[in-house]
Amino acid sequence: MQRRKFIKQSSLTLAGIGVFGSLLSNNRINEINLSVNGKRIESRIFELAKFGVDEKGRGFRVAYSKGDIEGRAWFMELMKKAGLNPSIDAAGNIIGKRNGKNPSLKPIAFGSHIDMVPDGGNYDGTLGSIAALELIETLNENNFLTEHPLEVIIFGNEEGGTIGSKAMVGDITNDGLNQKSQIGLTMADGIKAIGGNPENIQSCIRKKGDIHAWVELHIEQGGILEKEKIQIGVVEGIVGIVHWEVTVEGFANHAGATQMNMRQDALLAASKFIVAVNEVITSIKGTQVGTVGKIAVQPGAYNVIPGKVQLGLEIRDLNAAKIELLFKEIEKRAAAIAASSKTKISFERQANESKPALTDKGLQQIINSTAKSLGFTTKLMQSGAGHDSQHVADIAPSAMIFIPSVGGISHSPKEFSTATDMANGANVLLQTILKIDKL
Ligand code: GLV
Ligand code: MN
Ligand code: MN
Repeated sequence: MQRRKFIKQSSLTLAGIGVFGSLLSNNRINEINLSVNGKRIESRIFELAKFGVDEKGRGFRVAYSKGDIEGRAWFMELMKKAGLNPSIDAAGNIIGKRNGKNPSLKPIAFGSHIDMVPDGGNYDGTLGSIAALELIETLNENNFLTEHPLEVIIFGNEEGGTIGSKAMVGDITNDGLNQKSQIGLTMADGIKAIGGNPENIQSCIRKKGDIHAWVELHIEQGGILEKEKIQIGVVEGIVGIVHWEVTVEGFANHAGATQMNMRQDALLAASKFIVAVNEVITSIKGTQVGTVGKIAVQPGAYNVIPGKVQLGLEIRDLNAAKIELLFKEIEKRAAAIAASSKTKISFERQANESKPALTDKGLQQIINSTAKSLGFTTKLMQSGAGHDSQHVADIAPSAMIFIPSVGGISHSPKEFSTATDMANGANVLLQTILKIDKL
């Protein structure tokens, strides 16, 4: 299926005429009556939250950890019960399949991820995963057979660099596989731990044209929808993300006997660097963001001047060139800080970066009109969070549906979305997939 076709047919739909309008009316009764079970979605969100809780009671379903492995097993059991016959590809992605009436058609795919950041929330990724399963169960319960085969895809290690989706589109490198994951395993060993096969990673690659369309339902993770009292966000684009490991090397020395003008304090230089990052990022107009989100100080004692500091730098924007420009500016500031503090500041760009991506315009229109026809308010918006969808967009028309995040909080145990909003989003997903099925 070509992108063009989605745009053409969906604009006919918006005008209320044409092929798509008449196809919709043929199946009107069945499709319009289909609706997800919101209570089942909510109770499964709570059930999945029980997997990967650490000894302090914090959510730790971090990719490749015991909690991730157990949560995936629970999810696959539900997929089996729903007749999806799940399998794990070489990158550790879980894929479940449901036949359509016409086996020669390419599958429509949807899903998300169930791994989380350390001390994360219970809705990021899990909503789109549980809603995808719910969609299948709704079709099963109503004996509804789509034309296209359907696929539920639960990507492996989204939070640690969208590893599963990168691998699926052929974008993972050896460096990427050798990079350390959040729990300390290399990505390759982590993939093995969840049932994948990194030695044969190429076997999971899907080519352009292999997937008819991909749609991911997700929580917004910001506060725009809630603030503007909008029920459904239609995502236009997803930011690119680049990470650097930054090392500041000074000289560890006695904190009492070393005069202030004799020091090479790595933490003082690192502090100036953190401020400089903020100044560079905010020095130009735009929605770019930059964060120093981790720091480790050596040796780490009251009475020793810090000799070495390791920082994690991240820059995000919808424009890849802007990310590079901002980084060049940060490098210049770092060189000046290093010179004035007699330290050395070096950068190591991390392998698993994400390119910015635009979603498919035709699919945006379908989601928008579908949500409106269900009585929901909508808004076109950007995603400041990264998603597997930005990689799938390389090989298939892709789109995302957002629902409000209460308080705009995410990557936090305080993350929350209401059961009503989750059901609304899942119903938009369901009806969107049924519309795409006719294209
Ligand atoms: C993933 O959630 C990200 O945006 O880092
Ligand atoms: Mn997510
Ligand atoms: Mn996330």
